[in-house]
Amino acid sequence: MERLRGERAEPPGPLIPVKAPVLKSCDKAPVRFHAGSDPDPLDRKTQLAVNSMRGLTAAFSALAILIAPVALASEADPHQLYERKCAGCHSPHAGDFVWLELDTGQEPLAGRNSGRSVAALLEGGHGRLTPAEAAILMSHFQAIRASGQLFRTKCRICHDTASGLVRRALILRDGTLTGRYTGRDIGQFLTVHGRLTPSEAEQMLGVLERIATSTGRID
Ligand code: HEC
Ligand code: HEC
Repeated sequence: MERLRGERAEPPGPLIPVKAPVLKSCDKAPVRFHAGSDPDPLDRKTQLAVNSMRGLTAAFSALAILIAPVALASEADPHQLYERKCAGCHSPHAGDFVWLELDTGQEPLAGRNSGRSVAALLEGGHGRLTPAEAAILMSHFQAIRASGQLFRTKCRICHDTASGLVRRALILRDGTLTGRYTGRDIGQFLTVHGRLTPSEAEQMLGVLERIATSTGRID
């Protein structure tokens, strides 16, 4: 919270029940329909249906699910969600936010300065999240706490963040976490890299695998 002092940034206002992410992906729909040279007949049907139902929330949601799986997937990436909605005023990465700005000894998770419950804060509209987004971030914060300080204490000196490392270099191939460019079996590699005990190596593998899954780094 150090960097917040003196800046006096106003905390964001109350929660407005917007359908922003869905509407945003719908806005892009026409571009997609016209972009393909060989449109799928289903797409044409969908387009007609949508034209006639424009304005109906149900149509927007159905359309978003049909045509924007990529946008929805990235919407659900908790790291990106944090970076988009919180990093502007808080630590640049969710891991630092949890370890530096939250009281990780509290259950439920609470702010280090205010002692206020993070869940209650987000439900009250801080950060302008939808309820679904708030749930995604809360479970992400819990997962970071559960994974312990391992990455911060043993890996950080050479790799900036666990999620950065996964995004850049790793991929789940047939369920095995693998070096994207080295082809390494990362589970084996961690038994001889980073000075981990066998049980820490196992824990670290779990953390990296979870990040790879949640960020869609899957072959
Ligand atoms: C526009 C700036 C801004 C954004 C965006 C923002 N915050 Fe905050 N946040 C603040 C300020 C300023 C405070 C301190 C004042 C306060 O407690 O009301 C704060 C306080 C907090 C606290 C309490 C910290 C403590 O030590 O007690 C938590 C938890 C928190 N924010 C979480 C989040 C999360 C999670 C997000 C993203 C969903 C977010 N904030 C987005 C400005 C912001
Ligand atoms: C002293 C610096 C240092 C520390 C500490 C360190 N690493 Fe590394 N790590 C490297 C370097 C350098 C490479 C690339 C070298 C290579 O590919 O052989 C690497 C490669 C990796 C790779 C493989 C990437 C690939 O493409 O195959 C993973 C995964 C990894 N590190 C994880 C960790 C984890 C987890 C920790 C903490 C437990 C850690 N590292 C600690 C320096 C470090």
